[in-house]
Amino acid sequence: MTPPVSVSLIVNDAIRRVEAKPETPLLYILRNDLSLNGPKYGCGLGECGACAVLVDGRAVRSCTVPLGAVGTRQVTTLEGLSAERSLHPVQRAFIEEAAAQCGYCLNGMIIAIVGLLHRNSDPDESDIREALRHHLCRCGTHMEILAAARRAAVYAKAERASSSASADTTEVSS
Ligand code: FES
Ligand code: FES
Repeated sequence: MTPPVSVSLIVNDAIRRVEAKPETPLLYILRNDLSLNGPKYGCGLGECGACAVLVDGRAVRSCTVPLGAVGTRQVTTLEGLSAERSLHPVQRAFIEEAAAQCGYCLNGMIIAIVGLLHRNSDPDESDIREALRHHLCRCGTHMEILAAARRAAVYAKAERASSSASADTTEVSS
């Protein structure tokens, strides 16, 4: 049996030290050792998406990532998305579209859309559907979740437009 090892992880911009066997799924470490309960245990097999987190900005299923494979990469959980108590625009979009029944799948849905917007700031309908394709919602809230994802994409576009406008203003005034 592999003995536990002491590992430093970067989670939500903080260094966290844990002791566990290297093969322990990252999901267990986040929930059981670090009390980060945003990522949910659904299938434990990489099939439902409930456990998604961002690793270096990319959405991954934390039930399939062993602790020993994380290294110095940045892990961001649902808890790490909001800055100083204000919600991330994707979280806001999900609330505004009332895209939840039981809410169990929402961690994965939100993380998937944040990951999508990291790599594609102007996703179209097929990009959104592809990002959510392997995320299961057993309450059948798919229509509201899609609406929330579209709204989040609109927010991302508006944010991009406003930051490029303020960059232009800086250039003109400098
Ligand atoms: S719990 Fe990880 S994909 Fe289902
Ligand atoms: S809202 Fe219940 S599983 Fe999606």
